[in-house]
Amino acid sequence: MSIPTGKILACVNGVIGPAESATVSVLDRGHIFGDGIYEVVRVDKGRLHGIDRHWRRLDRSLRALQMPSLDLNLLRSQVDATLAASGHCDAMVYLQVTRGTAARAHAFPTDTPANTLILVQHFPDDKAALREKGAGVITHPDLRWARCDIKSINLLGSVLAAEAAKRAGCVEAVLIREDGTVTECAHSSLFAVVDGVLRTHPLDNRILPGITREIVLEIAADLGIPCRQKALRSDELRGVEELFLTSTTSKVLPLVTLDGKPVGSGNPGPVTGKLRDAFEAWEKADAQRTPSAAALNAGEL
Ligand code: PDD
Repeated sequence: MSIPTGKILACVNGVIGPAESATVSVLDRGHIFGDGIYEVVRVDKGRLHGIDRHWRRLDRSLRALQMPSLDLNLLRSQVDATLAASGHCDAMVYLQVTRGTAARAHAFPTDTPANTLILVQHFPDDKAALREKGAGVITHPDLRWARCDIKSINLLGSVLAAEAAKRAGCVEAVLIREDGTVTECAHSSLFAVVDGVLRTHPLDNRILPGITREIVLEIAADLGIPCRQKALRSDELRGVEELFLTSTTSKVLPLVTLDGKPVGSGNPGPVTGKLRDAFEAWEKADAQRTPSAAALNAGEL
């Protein structure tokens, strides 16, 4: 299902208006080279979930790509203003920064300010039932570049894998490198349970440092669930007891089929269920610690 573009609010370099009529130059380096970075933040009852962690990751991506310096406080206020103008309480915020507008030449332009884009769209959490019963995934070659730790807007490897998953009637694609290393999913982090131990790829250049992944690891440590950050190999993947993905938009989502075959019992496993429920409880508690103005006004907390 595609969201009508008329329902999306945009803020381009600080100017707020409907996404349909918002414009960026054809010379924007994001458009020409994919020379930009992004973040996706979920808004729940007016509250930007994990926002400080998202700002930290954005800042890291900007530094890693030596992007033009940017007033992050200004960008923060623009995110708040765009969200307020949208009137949405349950929303998704897409935030993009590119290396500005310049005549096409590969090397960086000099003295060119970054271009910023904020998009806000209504985003109801419609995956609750799927998180209960679990979803299917396929495996797919990991065709991405050597700096997957940077949240770059170059997403062709992920786009091709996600399309293959969609055509197979699955929610995601588990990515496997040529050497047989299982990395993560096209747009989510991946976890398995092997011999009762939680397993996920360690943080390095091959995966995105997922924010939900980070929180789930903290929760697992609190719950005393043993965890090993070590990559799975494709031959191990078939024999895992449990599998689940994590992301800003899906939270903790059990995976019950892999390439059409059941994972473990074919139902969400006990460790996954524990972490899924604990993650949602953690989010509620976190929201109560720092409620949004919108939630307080609506008396929702
Ligand atoms: N995807 N791995 C990849 C490759 C991702 O693109 C994402 C996020 C994640 C999960 O990260 P987080 O928990 O911070 O959302 C892992 C976003 C949602 C997207 O591109 O739409």
